Amino acid sequence: MSIKVAPSILAADYLNLEQDVKLVEKAGAEYLHIDVMDGMFVPSISYGPGWVKALKPKTNMVLDVHLMVEQPERYIDTFVEAGADILGVHYEATQHLHRALQQINEHGIKSEVVINPATPVSSIAPVLHMVDQVLVMTVNPGFGGQKFLPETLAKIAELSELKTKNGYHYDIEIDGGANDETTKLAYEAGATVAVAGSYVYDKVDPAAKVARLKEVTK
Ligand code: DX5
Ligand code: ZN
Repeated sequence: MSIKVAPSILAADYLNLEQDVKLVEKAGAEYLHIDVMDGMFVPSISYGPGWVKALKPKTNMVLDVHLMVEQPERYIDTFVEAGADILGVHYEATQHLHRALQQINEHGIKSEVVINPATPVSSIAPVLHMVDQVLVMTVNPGFGGQKFLPETLAKIAELSELKTKNGYHYDIEIDGGANDETTKLAYEAGATVAVAGSYVYDKVDPAAKVARLKEVTK
């Protein structure tokens, strides 16, 4: 099965967002990736729950919300109400990761734990049984358009092995520097979802880019 594709609207045209979203949906993207940045956990400030709420009635894609926010537990309820289908919290952003994931699970939506490039898989071993998705950052979070870090591939493979060995059900998502080459490598290591921002939206044909990511992961 091809990798699931999650275009990141961080690289889309904000004043023509509806059109940019429809383009990738028509091309077969399963998820829409929404990067929430608070200017603290990461230097950038992006957008908040109002954007999730506005996008919700415009698409049938799974709204994949990536919280790059300090103490994300403060905003879980708000993003669930806004319409998030998957809500991701960083291991590095909270002292109470287990509680934050419990809180997401109690809402009946999908929960995700995210790890930065310097965080080992062993750090999140105690919560792997309770998440629907693990996001392996393949760049340092905060900015689009960075280069894929190949040292993250070993973590993808490790998560894939743990999943098989323990019968876990999580998807393994990559985020950062995804293009046709790096997505293929990540897919071969065990990734099941690829976030792609600048690769999809920077140039002329977002639909063709989505199709290309599917093509190289057949
Ligand atoms: C980075 C964000 C990414 C970003 C990826 O902090 O989490 O989702 O949109 O952008 P590209 O695909 O351009 O590396
Ligand atoms: Zn992201």
